[in-house]
Amino acid sequence: MSKKTLLSGVKPTGRPHIGNYFGAMKQFVGLQDEYHALYMIADYHALNFIQDKKELSQNILDLMLDYLAIGLDPKKSLIFKQSDVSEHTELAWIFDAITTMPYLMRAHAYKDAEAKNKEINVGTFNYPMLMAADILLYDTDVVPVGADQKQHVEYARDTAEKFNRIFKNDVFKLPDAKIIQEVSVVPGTDGQKMSKSYNNTIPLFAEDEEIKKAVMSIVTDSEKAEESMVMEQLSTQRKPLVFHRPANVYQIHRLFRSESELAALYQQNQGKYQAVKEALIEDIKTFITPLREKRKHLADDTDFVLDVLKEGGERAKLIAEKKMEMVRETIGVKLY
Ligand code: ADP
Ligand code: TRP
Repeated sequence: MSKKTLLSGVKPTGRPHIGNYFGAMKQFVGLQDEYHALYMIADYHALNFIQDKKELSQNILDLMLDYLAIGLDPKKSLIFKQSDVSEHTELAWIFDAITTMPYLMRAHAYKDAEAKNKEINVGTFNYPMLMAADILLYDTDVVPVGADQKQHVEYARDTAEKFNRIFKNDVFKLPDAKIIQEVSVVPGTDGQKMSKSYNNTIPLFAEDEEIKKAVMSIVTDSEKAEESMVMEQLSTQRKPLVFHRPANVYQIHRLFRSESELAALYQQNQGKYQAVKEALIEDIKTFITPLREKRKHLADDTDFVLDVLKEGGERAKLIAEKKMEMVRETIGVKLY
């Protein structure tokens, strides 16, 4: 049986953090063997947020280094950047034409921006259509993402369905999101969702000092959160938890160590926030050091890294071109 196709992408908008890694990027690595995998650098999506030549170029290179450092293997996966395959923006336009404004106004990202009274650019408003094009051009079966991207994958699915219906031709496959529930939302140092935009991250390739500083800044005084978390544990795991623990520290710690190992550690150190934080720092360091070293090594030869990216773009383009021919034919603009 031939392998199913998987595609995912990350915007080059800054250093990735452990939320990006455990929520999305880690899955990328594990899925390379099982699927025909494509991993994209969503640079045109990033343009909505970064409008500075130097910064965007640097971020693209940085993300490529990140991808390779976490273990994406160009021999197994197709790694490319969105702007190398102009068919993405072309298809997004066609999707714009069959999509209504009220439908796009329901997108969480748009509603959030609206709620903050931000002046929203058209690119942000149309964001789900470009993402639908990313996914649908390659006959993608599954899209591994963090929980916050679930709605966008649903937009892609709806759009595929709508296109096929309007043009009475099953041009597009309907994709499914693939989400790891336990780590679908990694909390940040302040207890909110870890996010580049909230200044609450632990960077994935952090230096030792940064790790220490970030962990020491994790907010620990949330009694109420602790209690509700205990209740949750009771109902889902039927394992009575008779001790208190700093919820935010624990939620991050469980990414690096098994819950059974942590149970002992947190039980022994009830009320000793400093001690559990120190243990967490050591566990994060052990995890990050080899990744950081690998990334530094790759950064010594950026020519090689950019060649790999360029070649990925060429290969992706061949696939996308074929699909676009079919799309143009289907909508009636292909006359010769
Ligand atoms: P950020 O919110 O930091 O800007 P992005 O929007 O660039 O993150 O997300 C990149 C990927 O990482 C997406 O698939 C997203 O769902 C996932 N992700 C981001 N933050 C988290 C988090 N705190 N927990 C789990 N997954 C996350
Ligand atoms: N919107 C995604 C994010 O913010 C990035 C992205 C762009 C993406 N195109 C994609 C993810 C296609 C999966 C598939 O994280």
